[in-house]
Amino acid sequence: MYQVIRNTKYDYIGQSYASLYPNLHKYPATMLPQIGIDILKEFDATKGSLLDPYCGSGSSFTSGLECGLTKMQGFDINPWATLICKVKFTKIPINELIKEKQTFRNNIFEFLKNENNIFKLPRPQITNIDFWFSQDVINKLIIIKHFIDEIKNINIRNFFLAPFSEVVRECSYTRNNEFKLFRIKSDELLNFNPDVVSVYLKKWNDIFLIYSNFYFPKIKNDGKINVKCAQFQFQNESFDVVLTSPPYGDSRTTVAYGQFSTLSNEWLGISFARKIDRMLMGGTKSKSNITHGVIADSISQISKVDNNRALEVSSFYRDLSVSITNVANSVRKGGKAIYIVGNRTVKNIKLPTDQFVAEKFEACGFKHVVTYERALSNKAMPSKNSPTNKIGKTVNTMLYEHIVVCEKKYNYDIN
Ligand SMILES: C[S@@+](CC[C@H](N)C(=O)[O-])C[C@H]1O[C@@H](n2cnc3c(N)ncnc32)[C@H](O)[C@@H]1O
Repeated sequence: MYQVIRNTKYDYIGQSYASLYPNLHKYPATMLPQIGIDILKEFDATKGSLLDPYCGSGSSFTSGLECGLTKMQGFDINPWATLICKVKFTKIPINELIKEKQTFRNNIFEFLKNENNIFKLPRPQITNIDFWFSQDVINKLIIIKHFIDEIKNINIRNFFLAPFSEVVRECSYTRNNEFKLFRIKSDELLNFNPDVVSVYLKKWNDIFLIYSNFYFPKIKNDGKINVKCAQFQFQNESFDVVLTSPPYGDSRTTVAYGQFSTLSNEWLGISFARKIDRMLMGGTKSKSNITHGVIADSISQISKVDNNRALEVSSFYRDLSVSITNVANSVRKGGKAIYIVGNRTVKNIKLPTDQFVAEKFEACGFKHVVTYERALSNKAMPSKNSPTNKIGKTVNTMLYEHIVVCEKKYNYDIN
């Protein structure tokens, strides 16, 4: 058993993400940057290069920047997540953004003067488009996207896509308070007529203010934050520190990152938008259960109640295990791995993910340093998830999170 210490310093009671850095863009289950900042400082991991193999919207990079780290790399399979990261951490001259916004706005209003113009633009490939959007919303989104695509500079174009992807979600018929794709009730549909262009321009301003006040001033000219839309693979990089918050479990029964971003990803032209949840950790069911190590007992108990669930759970931990091996082998000797994890409950059986992470790192040449337990009072909805596909049905699965810190002692050959 790897020792766990209850550490109230990491509870941040009454604080939210925005207490330090407003979130540029909505993303499920974001990590409080405060955790990253304090833990990097406590373990003296404020120099060198940082890796986040599940970077989501990039909170670990926010923490890293605040601690003076400039070389960081992130991976996520969800293109929407990597887009948010790129926007947050790419330095774009503020005056260029303002100039482009003026041109963009003029172009749209000029285009809207002739109502036949819309017929010149192709319709996007969105699954069940008329189920999710009204005709007026579809037309306005097509126009906005068309003028975003006309922007030559890729960084500026990405910046304009960030409010676009939020507007897609907000102006669709999806319930905004659910991670999964559920349509609002039919009586609400009739009264739902958003003014898409105004919503977009307002959203653009909000994002611009947050970017220019909070992120832009922190991004170093000589800094390098590389974000890839991919699964992390072994790299001969010798990272100094890994700071990450992996998913709590498979997307289907925990946080549906893919579904949450499906419509935005489809509007961004991502061909695999509807497959993302199956591509994430635990997305494919295992054929056998895990029978070794600290997780085996919990899985065995689950299998007695529901073997299918046990196979799904086994699949998640197998994927996490492979990933930890790749990560561990990409860290230099003396480097640290900091994983912020949740021990969720399946079929009323607690899954000791913190112990699993410590065990896997120890098997890869690391020594467990400490695990802190923190109360979960403020993370975006991790303690209440819909375990079924029933609208609005949620259960409490987690009240605490664990911050697992390990240090690399030996180098093992990846083979
Ligand atoms: C808890 S979220 C990370 C949130 C992030 N720390 C933030 O503050 O936004 C976990 C992320 O892992 C990603 N993910 C799941 N499986 C993955 C895999 N095999 N490779 C890369 N990313 C994965 C999900 O898309 C999700 O964005």
